[in-house]
Amino acid sequence: MSMRTVARTPFPARHELGTGKLHNRYPSIADLEARAYARLPRFAWDYLAGAAGDETGLAHNRSAYDGVGFTPQYLCERRAADTRTTLFGRSFAYPFGVAPVGQSGLVWPRSAEYLAAAAKRADIPFCLSMVATTGIERIGEIAGANAWFQLYPLRDPGVTRSVLQRVRAAGFSALIVTVDTPAGRRTLRDRRNGLSLPPRLSLANIARMFGHPAWLASSAVTGIPRFETLLPYMPKGADATGVIALTQTLIARGIDAKGLEAVRALWDGPMIVKGPLGVEDARVCQAIGIDGLVVSNHGARQSESLVSPLHVLRRIRDAVGESLCVGVDSGVRSGLDIARALALGAQFVLLGRAFMFGVAALGAAGAQHATELLALELEQAMGQFGCFELADLPARLAPDSAAATRIASSRQS
Ligand SMILES: Cc1cc2nc3c(=O)[nH]c(=O)nc-3n(C[C@H](O)[C@H](O)[C@H](O)COP(=O)(O)O)c2cc1C
Repeated sequence: MSMRTVARTPFPARHELGTGKLHNRYPSIADLEARAYARLPRFAWDYLAGAAGDETGLAHNRSAYDGVGFTPQYLCERRAADTRTTLFGRSFAYPFGVAPVGQSGLVWPRSAEYLAAAAKRADIPFCLSMVATTGIERIGEIAGANAWFQLYPLRDPGVTRSVLQRVRAAGFSALIVTVDTPAGRRTLRDRRNGLSLPPRLSLANIARMFGHPAWLASSAVTGIPRFETLLPYMPKGADATGVIALTQTLIARGIDAKGLEAVRALWDGPMIVKGPLGVEDARVCQAIGIDGLVVSNHGARQSESLVSPLHVLRRIRDAVGESLCVGVDSGVRSGLDIARALALGAQFVLLGRAFMFGVAALGAAGAQHATELLALELEQAMGQFGCFELADLPARLAPDSAAATRIASSRQS
């Protein structure tokens, strides 16, 4: 199925959500994850599913969600749940979107294109990573204003200016600056696999590729994945596809308030900062006129010791009030989790691995299916709890969930 064909299939009407065949074979993101595991060569699976250090951060992110429960209200007038929301001046059908994923073509060829098309179809945001293997212009064609662009701080302001001009010209509607990568990370599985882009052709990796014919066939068609957005800025003579060249020459180690202000001056649209976990950082963003935050620990990929975003979300929301639109990510695997995050104060939710599991499992159809699953689960959760507007969710939070989360937040920040 080609991406263009997929983009034309309409998103199911509310009463049809959940009726397609895939809903029986893959009734949850966990089912897509299991199929993704079977379809990916080891190095690609490890890159997607792995995390930093001893990887305990993954379980912490999950358990934060598992502990959040609801008290439903049944004896009330019932109507269909309204999931529409306005984010940064634009209306979206659902309050969740696709998080930025770098080196996306290594996991599954054209995954960014498939996800951008699925996001456009569902009318949700799609965030393109600056280090994805599909470039700005291609995603602009597919997703238009549904696309948000994620920038890592760059060393050269001239390159930043040029990238942002392209982002604007391609019709993206918001900019995300990721600030949580000031130090190199230790993702041990990637080390053991000798992970690189393009994949290193060691005997072990070649054997792994041949053991996964669907991945190999797709990769053979699309060719070697490259950092399309950054190719024009790679220094002459550098390995044009290499991660090392990229990080050593283009991407800065972290950013401070002055640096953020400089980016702010170059971008006149909505600007979101991804990665703050503490009130101080959130206040810095507020002071320099940032429009939104994604409270995130990068899916536990930077360090296993970073606090779970869900535990600090409420505290950050309280600190910045209504002046910033606050989203969250890390550990979200279902529409129910999205409801949990909204109940605890998030205005939107991003998901990284959940969407990529869909693509790795089923290609373009998997991108769509993951989107439908999350939409269906969110609507069902809202119906079950007696919430007909997104804004009703906080009132249904079970008292012990709210208390537990508040205690955690005051201890950890
Ligand atoms: C394979 C992979 C690559 C990622 N690359 C980026 C990236 O390029 N830029 C970024 O801001 N975040 C990146 N992230 C982090 C995600 O945007 C998001 O914060 C994280 O996946 C959320 O956790 P979840 O996977 O549990 O949903 C990446 C995550 C994964 C899994």
